Amino acid sequence: MVGEGADADAGQRAHAVELGRRLAERTGTSKELAQRQRAVLADSRAVVGFRRSTKETLYPLAARSARGVRLTDVDGNEYTDITMGFGALLLGHEPEAVTEAVREHLSHGLRFGPRPVEAGEVAQLLADLTGMERVAFAGSGTEANSAAVRLARAATGRDRIVMFRGSYHGHIDSVLGRPGPDGTHAVPVSHGIPHSAVSELIVLEYGSQEALDTVDALGDTIAAVLVEPVQCRNPALRPVAFLRELRDLTRRRGIVLLFDEMLTGLRPHPRGAQHHFGVVPDLATYGKALGSGFPIGAIAGRADILDGVDGGFWRYGDDSRPETETTFFGGTYMQHPLSMAAAKAVLTHLTTEGPALQERLNARTDMLAEGLNEFFRAEEFPLELSHFGSMFRFTHRADMELLYQHLLLRGIYVWEWRSFYLSTAHTDADVERVSDAVKDSLRALREGGFFPASRPRPRAG
Ligand SMILES: Cc1ncc(COP(=O)(O)O)c(C=O)c1O
Repeated sequence: MVGEGADADAGQRAHAVELGRRLAERTGTSKELAQRQRAVLADSRAVVGFRRSTKETLYPLAARSARGVRLTDVDGNEYTDITMGFGALLLGHEPEAVTEAVREHLSHGLRFGPRPVEAGEVAQLLADLTGMERVAFAGSGTEANSAAVRLARAATGRDRIVMFRGSYHGHIDSVLGRPGPDGTHAVPVSHGIPHSAVSELIVLEYGSQEALDTVDALGDTIAAVLVEPVQCRNPALRPVAFLRELRDLTRRRGIVLLFDEMLTGLRPHPRGAQHHFGVVPDLATYGKALGSGFPIGAIAGRADILDGVDGGFWRYGDDSRPETETTFFGGTYMQHPLSMAAAKAVLTHLTTEGPALQERLNARTDMLAEGLNEFFRAEEFPLELSHFGSMFRFTHRADMELLYQHLLLRGIYVWEWRSFYLSTAHTDADVERVSDAVKDSLRALREGGFFPASRPRPRAG
């Protein structure tokens, strides 16, 4: 953050220490739990963004209760949630329809083992909402992407996968690559991932002509192009013409176009990014909002590709049989009964409400973005709120860690990866609360010497 001279540095340090002290005083039980459990609980989340300067405030908050958009932590502090289950809680915490469906399911026992009756209904509802032909389920988004990539490879008989820099597709080794020294072939993003796991992965620049040229040049060797249509780390990047060209190109070259709609699915529109870009992929994967907090993943798409799961359609009473060669597909929790009950409730609600549900939510997020961006400009804070539908993040060049600590102190629940979501449970008053907290936080930081004072604005007239 921007400071002014040695005095400001001392002032900034004092501000940061005092902020940390107030936060730790307020959320002491979460901090104490983090310390006590660290020896036995290996948890990457508890160490995200570790810095010596902010180490004293680095611990995940533990919650006692949650409802709607309100969270209460183990110290009894109330928060307005903008983390919303990492994007899963499109309908808020404990939406009545979902909670009721899960309760009703459990009242007859979990019934884990036999196929849940809801599985086929959820498949139909998702197919109807997204326009996809067939659907298979998985236990998480990562599992869904893993299966989708395998299905694409099985359908094309090719191995290469293309993805784009800045996207995230879950934690299977084969998509944990970043561009290598030649700018194209991937290298592993961390220790523990063998080079061989990403040897068939190519990572290109999203939205670039070079990416299209590379896909064209390697066309016959590529099984799938995996796209996070609007990257949660960069919601402002929405290359419409690029995606349309990519659609034509992949169709021409027999490549499976795979949309990872984990965050963009159902949230900005029932048909997700497909609708926004006017592009129909061959496969799309879903999760998060589909389960409303219950673990789920789904692979939806062209019947001939999904037939790789079960061999395709057949009937009783004639000599039809599964005709398509299958690939490996499975998972103990792939149609978890509670996730199926929850997903049915979510999709039924979204179907009943229609796109107006998302339109209202998008408009509320527009309002938050417009208000805050106007404030940042007027008061000369070097920040921007960029958003797509109801997902948003603050973009800034400087380290803004203290902003997030101020927000926690002001009762706004922000998580460690700093991507945020509104839900249908947020009201205009909640949006105002978030907006006021951001403004107050930035003003407090300016008082603490972190930003130069804004210049007086010329008077009108
Ligand atoms: C775009 C995208 N794809 C895939 C995943 C992985 O999903 P999961 O965490 O359910 O495995 C995520 C999770 O954040 C995601 O945002």
